[in-house]
Formats: sequence, structure tokens, C-alpha cells
Amino acid sequence: MDQNQKKQAVARAALAYVETDTVIGVGTGSTVNFFIDALADIKHKITAAVSSSEASTERLKKLGIDVLSLNEVDSLSVYVDGADEVTEHKHMIKGGGAALTQEKIVAAVAKRFICIVDDSKRVPVLGKFPLPIEVIPMARSYVARELVKLGGDPVYRQGVITDNGNVILDVHNLDILAPRDLEQTLNNIPGVVSNGIFALRGADVVLTASESGVATFD
Ligand code: A5P
Repeated sequence: MDQNQKKQAVARAALAYVETDTVIGVGTGSTVNFFIDALADIKHKITAAVSSSEASTERLKKLGIDVLSLNEVDSLSVYVDGADEVTEHKHMIKGGGAALTQEKIVAAVAKRFICIVDDSKRVPVLGKFPLPIEVIPMARSYVARELVKLGGDPVYRQGVITDNGNVILDVHNLDILAPRDLEQTLNNIPGVVSNGIFALRGADVVLTASESGVATFD
């Protein structure tokens, strides 16, 4: 099984968590793209979707799935999204596709977060994948200096503007042994919009595709 086949298998497995007649949250990325494609086959089952990015919104609409704004809904039964890294504690790094802020907001509203990954994303400790941080543009240099004080090595993601009009710093070499504490610390730096650690609100279920099939961890 190649990596795309694994992504497709885990995306299909997530369909089992889609509840009838509810609005669901949809993440962003190549794994979620397979989920959106699979969701199209059962689109009559759901009321609508709330999307975490312009890219996912476009794909959902193209496949005839209604998309609502988050402000139009009171609750989401489930949120399905990929991750760049995930641990056995169901803590994640996200934001490789620069959609972390809207992903975090939509995830916060959902009753259950279903994380869908292939086995390359499972790690013992977060941090090998550079941690994405969305920053207000005028605060970029200041935030970078603060990140250096925390022991990180921030790299400006050149040419990328988020859906919210901000920029991304990718932080290398951060020690993420206490992800919940670091998530909070980073949130407290003025100019940081959000950071790619998803630990305060981690996943509820992690589905992992490997050669031997899809494993469920909840
Ligand atoms: C988007 O900003 C990210 O959080 C993605 O969810 C994450 O990068 C996983 O993407 P892939 O499924 O493409 O690896």
C-alpha cells in the first residue's frame, strides 16, 4: 500500500463517525481531500459541512456538499482532520497547510475530533515536524525573537499568506515534552494568532492507516 492508498483507506474509515442529519466539521489537507471525496458518496446523510479553509470549501462545494459558515450553526457532531504529527496521548502538530487557526476554531466547536493519519505521522514526542505558528504580519520579527528565547529556531514561511491574511513561522528544534503548557505559552505571545500544537483540545479518536489496515485508538 502506498501513502495515498493509506490516506484513502483512513479517510473512508472516518465515514463511520459521520452522524445522520447533523452538520459536520471538515479539516484541510491531502488526507482530508480523500475524506471529502468519500463524503460525497453519502452527502444525503448530512445536513451540511463547516469547512476550515478556502481550499476545503471549494472541494466540498464542487462535490455538491452544502457548506455553512461556523456562525450559522450551534454545534458540530464531529470534526474530521489530518495531522502532521500525532502522539499516543492524541496530541497533534497541525498547520503544515497553513490552515491551523480555522482548524483549531472548528475543532473547538465539534463534539468529537476524529484525527485521520497514515502511520508516518505517528510519533513518540511532538516536534520533529517544524511547529507552524500563525502571526499577525507586523509582529513577525518580535514573535520570532520570543520564539528564540524559548529555544526554537523560527523560519518565515516565504510567500504564504493564510486565509486570515497573516503569515506563518515554522519553528524548528522546539522541545515539546509538555505540549499543553507550550501551547498556552505560545498563545500568550502578543501577535500570535494561534499555534499548531493541538493538545489542550486534542483528538478524541485517532485512526491510523498502515500496511495491516486501519487501527482505531480512542
Ligand atoms: C493543514 O493546515 C494541516 O493542519 C493538515 O491537517 C495537516 O498538515 C495534514 O495534512 P496532510 O493530510 O496533507 O498530511
